[in-house]
Amino acid sequence: MREHQDTKTSSTGETDRAEYLREKMVGELRDLGAVRSDPVAAAFSVVPRHLFAPGEPLERAYATMTTLHRKQDGAGTATSVVSASEIQAVMLEQARIEPGMRVLEIGSGGYNAALIAELVGRTGRVVSVDIDPEITGRARRYLDATGYGWVDVALGDAAHGVPEHAPFDRIIVTAGAWDIPPAWIEQLTEDGRLVVPLRLRGLTRSVAFERAGERLVSRDYQLCSFVPMQGAEAHSEQVVTLDEDRVSLLIDTDRPVDTDGLRKALLGPRTERWGGMEFGDSEPLHDLDLWIATVADGFGLVKATKEAVDSGLTSRSALYGGKAIVSGSSFVYRASARPVDESRTRFEFGAYAHGPDSERLAEEYIDHIRTWDRDHRGGPGARIEVFPAATPDAALPAGRVVDKKHTRIVVSWP
Ligand SMILES: C[S@@+](CC[C@H](N)C(=O)[O-])C[C@H]1O[C@@H](n2cnc3c(N)ncnc32)[C@H](O)[C@@H]1O
Repeated sequence: MREHQDTKTSSTGETDRAEYLREKMVGELRDLGAVRSDPVAAAFSVVPRHLFAPGEPLERAYATMTTLHRKQDGAGTATSVVSASEIQAVMLEQARIEPGMRVLEIGSGGYNAALIAELVGRTGRVVSVDIDPEITGRARRYLDATGYGWVDVALGDAAHGVPEHAPFDRIIVTAGAWDIPPAWIEQLTEDGRLVVPLRLRGLTRSVAFERAGERLVSRDYQLCSFVPMQGAEAHSEQVVTLDEDRVSLLIDTDRPVDTDGLRKALLGPRTERWGGMEFGDSEPLHDLDLWIATVADGFGLVKATKEAVDSGLTSRSALYGGKAIVSGSSFVYRASARPVDESRTRFEFGAYAHGPDSERLAEEYIDHIRTWDRDHRGGPGARIEVFPAATPDAALPAGRVVDKKHTRIVVSWP
């Protein structure tokens, strides 16, 4: 609930145009399936997004897929943005926020906290925490200027949560988290929900978890991409350079990798297999990626520059991170799909394998695609459960166990 509108910051013409673009954005978010409920639609209709990103053109401020106010480090990596409204809507729907709730937002910007404030209303409480004083400073200013002065903004490393304001009915994390620190679970109410962009074997999914004692159980997950968590919970996956700075392999393991063997493999001959399943061009297939990441022992991502793709060294799929299986000095990854009919409306995937074990790996990859097609395509998807790190194997359910610092995450496919 806004307390007043700051009219000094905008001319009447700009305000009218912003209102028009805001309604258009809400319609587009509904069409995308990102906004699904009336309270979330109402929040997006009311909060003036452009006032949380001054200097950005109005059209950009109200585009659904555009991030705003990018801040980057010396290496050019983004450390903070105002997230795209599409993913903000997806996560707010996942959070199922109700009036009167206490909500913690991890990673500030101001805009998303204002949306949450609309959802909880004046009987609720919103706390937004960020590790970067520049971000908390401007979030505070923008919230004050737009009538959300009652939202709390805190400076600190959210690895420890915000104990002085806990417990929270909802915690929404807006930075990519490799692990779930104990504070986030401890500071949730008994039936609380945590929505977090979780990094799992190199993939990121916004997972809506419900607390079940010391455990978390997923209720929903969605594709997303976020700037990484900084501070005590910062984590980088292993990056193996395969061809100078043109081709690399990202693997989420501390174990040593046969770098020389894999380099030689990339430059050697390629084994190709195609098939496993057919699909149309509008079907979302992100769950196939999570499936491969779950069933394969050595999962990773092959990443290549455009130059490497144009030279024929890798498939185009590597521009966006080709989903790979690594085994010793061999690897296989999914190639970009190719059409299987004249009208180019039906497609199939390929597996490109390199190294001494390439025949076996290429077959294995196509088999994984075939199994997913047969058993899981169009199904309910994976169940993701989070257990404390000390949980013994015998107490874990069946599934792929991904060990983290604080937790053991089990991914299973009911
Ligand atoms: C995508 S931005 C947040 C966007 C914001 N929620 C919005 O309104 O759209 C991610 C933020 O997380 C913050 N961040 C990263 N690591 C953090 C940590 N350990 N504790 C608190 N904030 C952190 C970054 O400084 C950055 O501002």
